Amino acid sequence: MDQNEAKRLAARAALDYLPAQGVVGLGTGSTSRLFIEEVGALVRAGRALLGVPTSAASRAQAEALGVPLASDDGPWSIDVCVDGADEVDERLNLIKGGGGALTREKIVNHAARKNIIIVDGSKLSQRLGERWAVPIEVVRFGHASTAAALRAFGEPTLRCHDGKPFVTDAGGLIYDLRCGPIDDPSALDQALRGVPGVVETGLFLGRASVVLVAGADGVARLSRG
Ligand code: A5P
Repeated sequence: MDQNEAKRLAARAALDYLPAQGVVGLGTGSTSRLFIEEVGALVRAGRALLGVPTSAASRAQAEALGVPLASDDGPWSIDVCVDGADEVDERLNLIKGGGGALTREKIVNHAARKNIIIVDGSKLSQRLGERWAVPIEVVRFGHASTAAALRAFGEPTLRCHDGKPFVTDAGGLIYDLRCGPIDDPSALDQALRGVPGVVETGLFLGRASVVLVAGADGVARLSRG
């Protein structure tokens, strides 16, 4: 099974968690794209779902598929949010933001009563940071000074796209902070939030209700506790 097939399998498994009718958070990234395709098919078949997109890209995709969408302003009462992740540890803590949508994703995640994370097996690790840097969204003003402060925690690299700084939907920049395996993600998250200029971190701690991990043997359904 290739990685894309595994992502599709995880995306389909997430459909089991959708309400008969209700409000669904729509994640961002290649796995979420596959999930949004499935939601589009459900809506066309008559299912009454309202989407809350976590990025402009997910909004555009869902809109094109005819999925009714809530305004970006909120407030929302979200039954379930389905999103991907870059890294998942043994406690089901996550690193997210590889697609640059971490701030919106975290806002929608916190507004959802249940969060379903869809990944293929390559995303699992024992400790966060083994595979991925932690994406950190920062305001543009003084971002190089913010980056200098981030050096206390690891090696920050300004994310660029086509040779220019990548700008998020929220208008911020992203530094990918390589810090190696993280002993205490919660302490790191708190410390990073204390740096002026930091808008949000890609550490999603205690926020996954269920992680669906797809691989050659099917889909494993992992839940906390
Ligand atoms: C988007 O900002 C990210 O949080 C994605 O959810 C994450 O990068 C997973 O993306 P893929 O599904 O493309 O691996």
